[in-house]
Order: sequence, then C-alpha cells, then structure tokens
Amino acid sequence: MGKLKVSVSILSADFSKLQSEIDRVSNADMLHIDVMDSHFVPELTFGPVVIKNLATKLPFDVHLMVTNPEKHIEPFAQAGADAITFHAEAVADIKKVIDKIHAAGLKAGVALNPDTPLDPIEEHLESIDRVLIMSVFPGYAGQKFIPDVVPKIKALRARYNGEIAVDGGINSETGKIVAEAGADILVAASFVYKNPEPAKAVEELRNCLNN
Ligand code: DX5
Ligand code: ZN
Repeated sequence: MGKLKVSVSILSADFSKLQSEIDRVSNADMLHIDVMDSHFVPELTFGPVVIKNLATKLPFDVHLMVTNPEKHIEPFAQAGADAITFHAEAVADIKKVIDKIHAAGLKAGVALNPDTPLDPIEEHLESIDRVLIMSVFPGYAGQKFIPDVVPKIKALRARYNGEIAVDGGINSETGKIVAEAGADILVAASFVYKNPEPAKAVEELRNCLNN
C-alpha cells in the first residue's frame, strides 16, 4: 500500500481570501475543486476562472458535479487541472468522456454516488486512473459520512489497481475506516478548514492509519 494522500476541498475555505486559504494547506497532496452546476446538484459553485490564477504547486483535482461534463474538460485543462473526475450518473457514454479527458492530457476519474453500484464502471476500470467513491450525496460540504459505502470500497480494491479516492464526511476516524478498506486518497473540506490550523488536520488525515 502506498502512502495515503490528502486532497483538500476548497469548498469550505473562506473565498474572500482564497489564495491565503490555499497557502494554509500547502502540505496537502492536491487541491480538490468542487464544481457544481445547479442541475446535477442543487448548488452552484465556480468555474475555471476561479482557479486559473491561483498560485500553488499542488495539482488541481477537479470534481465535476455537472450534467454535461464534456464541455468543461478543455476549459479546466487550460486552467491548470491535473485530473478531472466526472459522475458516472451524469453521462451516457463513460468511455467517451474518459477518452476526452485523456486526450486533453489529464488523469481521468469517475465518481459514484453512494447508491450507485460499481457496475457502470466495471468494464472501464483499465482506462480509469481514479475512482471517486462518494460517501455523502454530492452537493454540500459538512454532511455526515455514509458507512454503507465501505463494502463498495473493499470490492473495488479487490479488482482495481488505480487510485481510489473517498469524498464526503471524511475526518480522522472515517478516514481511517476508508483507508483500511483500500482508499488511497482522502478528500476533505470541513475537517480541514474548521481546524484553526488546517495544515495540522491534513497531517492528521495523512497519518490516520497509525492511530
Ligand atoms: C460534496 C463535495 C465534497 C465536499 C466534502 O458534494 O463533493 O468534496 O466538499 O466536504 P466535507 O469534507 O465537509 O464532507
Ligand atoms: Zn468533491
């Protein structure tokens, strides 16, 4: 098992000082960018212009919670995205979107809602770089972790060599549960930013298997 990685979601950051909020988590492995379109999920967040001019060495891990992910691939690639993850529930042809992300030179991720089984991605696992298992229903930060997704993480780990990320309600306790089940990447918003020293929360998550 490789070292556990931490992807900090800026959804719980203070947007009035986004650059310094990002500077506070420079020890993270990546920045998780939650893009919502007020259609696939009720809320509306932000697009590529918001991340384009941020100064960071961290890779952007873009999570598209949108109905038509294809049209956002190129703009986010231009804005400096490293990986783009879209929802299996949002598209008719998963392979087509994966190929388009790869053609843009990025890592391709596919996200699954808590009640979506592994079936839709099963035949594409070889071409998927990262599977994002949602442990809350997408739409908001600060929700409670849904433990029912743990068997799905274990089942995926048994047949998949790519990265498994888990997103929603992750703290040092739930992080340990999903890491033991096989997760490689912990995504967290509120656990990190509610800590007066967010970098400490990042370290806690990264080391949660040692507790
Ligand atoms: C939820 C987003 C998550 C969210 C996580 O729709 O995809 O990335 O920001 O927030 P926490 O860590 O507070 O559950
Ligand atoms: Zn997310």
